[in-house]
Amino acid sequence: MLDRHALIVLALLAGTAPAFAAGVPARGKDLAEKKCAICHAIGTTGDSPNPKSPPFRTLSQRYPIDSLQEALAEGITVGHEGVEMPEFRMEPREIDDFLAFLKSINK
Ligand code: HEC
Repeated sequence: MLDRHALIVLALLAGTAPAFAAGVPARGKDLAEKKCAICHAIGTTGDSPNPKSPPFRTLSQRYPIDSLQEALAEGITVGHEGVEMPEFRMEPREIDDFLAFLKSINK
């Protein structure tokens, strides 16, 4: 049975990124589905359920995706003024996953 460390070492040897160093887009998508999709379109097509919310695939047109990292770590209220919206704060690993997901849908 492989333990977690063995898996990470194997991932490193195989040249694939271990979970903590580079985000996993599929996990970021999961997060977005749970926390953001009630307002934001999170796919590569489609409108946001809440029309005022920018579709996530358009975020890179506004600013570099990586600039969201800090906002997510500190709790994202950025750009959400005036909107009834819970404050979101993500763990570093979640942020990596989430940003990887955003990059995958922002062309
Ligand atoms: C209750 C609805 C709602 C939820 C849930 C929500 N958002 Fe938003 N979000 C908005 C609205 C509305 C805007 C546009 C606000 C504006 O332009 O002033 C927005 C804007 C944004 C922006 C753009 C900010 C900017 O300055 O351009 C980002 C990034 C963002 N949201 C991230 C998220 C993330 C990440 C989640 C999930 C963790 C999330 N939002 C969940 C409603 C929501």
